[in-house]
Amino acid sequence: MIDRGDIERAATLLRAGGLVVFPTETVYGLGCDAANPQAVARLYAAKGRPNFNPLIAHVPDSAAAEQHAELHPIARELTEAFWPGPLTLVAKRRASSTIAELACAGLATIALRAPSHPAAQALLNAFGRPIAAPSANVSGRVSATKAEHIAADLRPLVDLVLDDGPSPIGLESTIVAVDSEGRARLLRPGALTRESVEAITGPLLMTNDSIEAPGMMASHYAPKARLRLDADAPRTDEVYLAFGSPARPGGLTLSARGDLTEAAANLYAHLRALDATGAHAIAVAPIPRQGLGEAINDRLQRAAAPR
Ligand code: TXA
Ligand code: MG
Repeated sequence: MIDRGDIERAATLLRAGGLVVFPTETVYGLGCDAANPQAVARLYAAKGRPNFNPLIAHVPDSAAAEQHAELHPIARELTEAFWPGPLTLVAKRRASSTIAELACAGLATIALRAPSHPAAQALLNAFGRPIAAPSANVSGRVSATKAEHIAADLRPLVDLVLDDGPSPIGLESTIVAVDSEGRARLLRPGALTRESVEAITGPLLMTNDSIEAPGMMASHYAPKARLRLDADAPRTDEVYLAFGSPARPGGLTLSARGDLTEAAANLYAHLRALDATGAHAIAVAPIPRQGLGEAINDRLQRAAAPR
């Protein structure tokens, strides 16, 4: 449990340029003062992230977001419908924004998200400024959905870990870019389903420019073991990650009853656990592609990509 004292300590560390791991409803974030370029540089170094991969600035609400980005009415409709929650908006950055250019990797746009997790909200309010935060994993590895997942090599570089148990959703936010003409593009499928976003934007354009969301590099979210997808059964040298059926001996199931929300919450923890068995390969059951299944399949495909 996180108490008032923990939140105050975290806010003080952020003000001093420190790095704080904090819970959000999607995955744990590795946060720093978004307006402090030294702190942002320290964060990139801790994460081992290439500097061209920009960070999401976390804000308490849409009023705070408006100080940093020019939101088209469509973008504003999205914030009204889904904030606070697992939606990240990419929009034109305001010249007057105090967020460090390094946090945006020099782009003319900025990514903003208002998380709904009570501890994240409390921290944003106590700190009073945007918090730049990528997922709290070393670059290229799966996101942390439990404080225990914060890698041994990352921990010593972090000033404080706010542990609030497993992440309620377990999958990163959906990233939607809305340009100055109100055209909406899906940059990353995520915890908010495409169907929910499209109810407001109409059909989303797909991004064809991988540089635009550099974290979308094919081999992102990779465990050490090889992954074989859409596998109805494991081969002799594989451990099995089931869906819609119970775990096999030595394997795990994302959801025995075939529930996509449960599967999203288990995805990263199960990939880590099967990876930790030292298995050469993980065979993964087919997962339906609608709703949250789109983001789950996206992450599995990236984890399976050659590297
Ligand atoms: O759920 C989440 O979004 C979590 C929690 C901690 O909020 N954060 C997260 O951050 O997943 P990260 O850094 O792992 O992924 C952010 C993605 C990256 O792929 C990055 O390239 C993209 O957002 N991004 C950031 N700024 C962008 C921009 N201006 N234009 C396009 N993509 C951007
Ligand atoms: Mg990440």
